[in-house]
Amino acid sequence: MKAAPGGARPCDFVLRGAAELATMSGADGCGLLTGGALAAREGRIAWIGPERDLNRCVAVAGDAIVVDAEGAAVLPGFVDPHTHAVFAGSRAVEYGERLAGRTYTDILAGGGGIKATVRATRAATAEQLAALTRRRLDSFLLHGTTTLEIKSGYGLTLADEHKMLAAAAVEHPLRRVRTFLGAHAVPDEFAGRADDYVELICREMLPALRSEAEFVDVFCDIGAFTVEQSRRVLLAARRLGYGLKIHADELALSGGARLAADVGCVSADHLVHATWEEIAALQQAAVVAVALPGTSFTLGAAYAPARAFLEAGLVLALATDFNPGTSYCENMQMVVALACQEMHLAPEEALRAATLGAAAAIGRQDEVGSLEVGKRCDLLVLDADTHSELQYHWGVNLVRGVVVDGRVVVSDGSVVDSQVGDAA
Ligand code: NIG
Ligand code: FE
Repeated sequence: MKAAPGGARPCDFVLRGAAELATMSGADGCGLLTGGALAAREGRIAWIGPERDLNRCVAVAGDAIVVDAEGAAVLPGFVDPHTHAVFAGSRAVEYGERLAGRTYTDILAGGGGIKATVRATRAATAEQLAALTRRRLDSFLLHGTTTLEIKSGYGLTLADEHKMLAAAAVEHPLRRVRTFLGAHAVPDEFAGRADDYVELICREMLPALRSEAEFVDVFCDIGAFTVEQSRRVLLAARRLGYGLKIHADELALSGGARLAADVGCVSADHLVHATWEEIAALQQAAVVAVALPGTSFTLGAAYAPARAFLEAGLVLALATDFNPGTSYCENMQMVVALACQEMHLAPEEALRAATLGAAAAIGRQDEVGSLEVGKRCDLLVLDADTHSELQYHWGVNLVRGVVVDGRVVVSDGSVVDSQVGDAA
């Protein structure tokens, strides 16, 4: 056995037998490495190159995990940077009502929508919520997501938001990033007093939840919070050291994207109604644009102008927006397919947005989102020999194997190691 360079320990993980590695390295495209292999040490990628060089270049421990991709395509794990994955209850009935013509804003104004999920989530115990979340995390993982952002926002009291953020950190191998979304809806007990609720968020909730969430998000739109209310929350969050995110210009052109640029959000999400002015402001302020095609699909609404984002030089991310109202889908493969079909992205652009771009939307671009030396060894083995099957062979799960931190967590389409891994 060869000595590892610099006296480092030998690699404990090897991936070989791949038809191609879509590394996402380089300034654009997929960084495709045909016949590539990869080795990792203690959860991080230590070497990547042509398989014929593997034995010559890398020292591998005798008991290393060896994954043989058997001629399949290999990708970085998907990063899903916008989800509402912790909630109780179902809104299947509302889905039917919307198909019959009732709008999302009508349903919300009538006490349904987010408010219906708030009632169900408040009624759930911490244990029930954690159990529901764990099952959903299994499903995300089985569909190839290895890093997941999860927002609170269906509790809307300090205790219930805390309960949600705790459920988001339930033990599971899926890597997580938590976001406090207290400004998701005005709760019934504050009806007609939205400013008082904003005051409660700023004075009590933000300081109390600082150790439980890395980001703060606000729903800045018609029927939700105004630009001024959103600004108050985001500025208070910024003073406390949170990273900032915003639901912007989803239902109408309501000023959210410009606010994102003003206060320095890491990402602005939805952006269905963004015009060139919003796009220019986001570009100037280096805000990542997060497009959520699953939401447009579910609502039968317009899609965000993702091609314009790319043309303007924005970093583009894709996410599921998994939630019980507007996008009940945990499958990033479907999001990639919709982005190609409905937003006219090239397959390489969509895949990059679902991995490296998505990592940038949660400030993790140095850790995950591509297969590069030094990054986390999070990868997918597909049931296909090319990454372009992802868009083309749609509506099925093409993920056969999943590796997180150099450990096999999904094999032959089943979760095999759900006890390991760190929570948020
Ligand atoms: O991103 N727009 C606000 N929040 C979610 C929907 C949440 C819900 O309807 O429960 C979204 O679409
Ligand atoms: Fe959302």
